Amino acid sequence: MTWTIEGKRVLLTGGTTGIGRATVEALAARGAEVVFTARNPDQGDAVVADVVAATGNEAVSHRRLDLDDLARVRDFGATFRDEFDRLDVLVNNAGVVLTERRQTADGHEFTFGVNHLGHFQLVNELLPLLQASAPARVVIVASDAHRFAKGLDFDDLQSTRGRFGAAKGMSVYARSKLANMLHTRELARRLDPALVTVNCLHPGAVRTRLGRDDEGTRLSEAIWPLVSRFFLTPEEGAKTSVWAVCDPGLEGVSGEYFSKSAIAEPKKTALDDVAAARLWAASEALVAP
Ligand SMILES: NC(=O)c1ccc[n+]([C@@H]2O[C@H](COP(=O)([O-])OP(=O)(O)OC[C@H]3O[C@@H](n4cnc5c(N)ncnc54)[C@H](OP(=O)(O)O)[C@@H]3O)[C@@H](O)[C@H]2O)c1
Repeated sequence: MTWTIEGKRVLLTGGTTGIGRATVEALAARGAEVVFTARNPDQGDAVVADVVAATGNEAVSHRRLDLDDLARVRDFGATFRDEFDRLDVLVNNAGVVLTERRQTADGHEFTFGVNHLGHFQLVNELLPLLQASAPARVVIVASDAHRFAKGLDFDDLQSTRGRFGAAKGMSVYARSKLANMLHTRELARRLDPALVTVNCLHPGAVRTRLGRDDEGTRLSEAIWPLVSRFFLTPEEGAKTSVWAVCDPGLEGVSGEYFSKSAIAEPKKTALDDVAAARLWAASEALVAP
């Protein structure tokens, strides 16, 4: 049967703002049941009210998920599996970029912890549900910023070395996005694409809150009005995610990198199967309770 998103259940992380919020609305407009994650319930309620009003689709709701706390990710997975008997699409969208070294509840470097490890664990939690709902899709929002990463530093995945400032924060972010892409590659290799496909994508340079909440990013506020004029709106930035979730032509397509709603060529470091397998093993050890 040809893939159609109408009536399918999508779970998206980070639906309160930016690309995630725009993706929630676009998917609701196409008739999907959308569950998104929010850390602030008031913000989640406001997005639900706006999206229901804009689309007329009442099958929109939010659940709390803190990707910087692996025990909470495990709890979220257990509660989700209890509540829902089906999950057709998982969109790993939430992300952060920081200019200082912070730690997650588990003591991991925060950017790597949220962007990669939290989502790695989330997929582990929900994979049985996705497999039981086949054909299903996992869509991972990565970034062209992976091109700034020379590779993963397996001796320092937690970025403990060197001074952590704006430049280091960007390189840590770039590596976390490369980790998203290597995660995509290894997960796709492990799964039957007839059952669950896994792809990642670059949304474009998008005018969102990303990297602008942090104390250390005040400097960027000075140049933000100048550069942001050339950025996409969140609605434009959501297009490749929506395409990856909805397009029937992507049935069976797995392990790819998308940009501008098409398959794109990533940097070679994102195609490194040895690094992908090594990251998988390291991540399994790091998320172990
Ligand atoms: N903007 C760009 O130009 C761009 C370019 C390439 C890739 N991307 C990627 O696109 C994705 C979305 O980014 P965006 O630009 O839309 O950013 P954004 O506006 O800052 O939104 C980030 C989302 O992630 C959620 N989030 C942050 N920390 C979290 C945590 N610890 N636990 C759970 N959720 C958390 C936020 O929820 P709260 O409201 O609870 O904080 C928010 O909903 C990210 O993966 C980013 O790397 C963005």
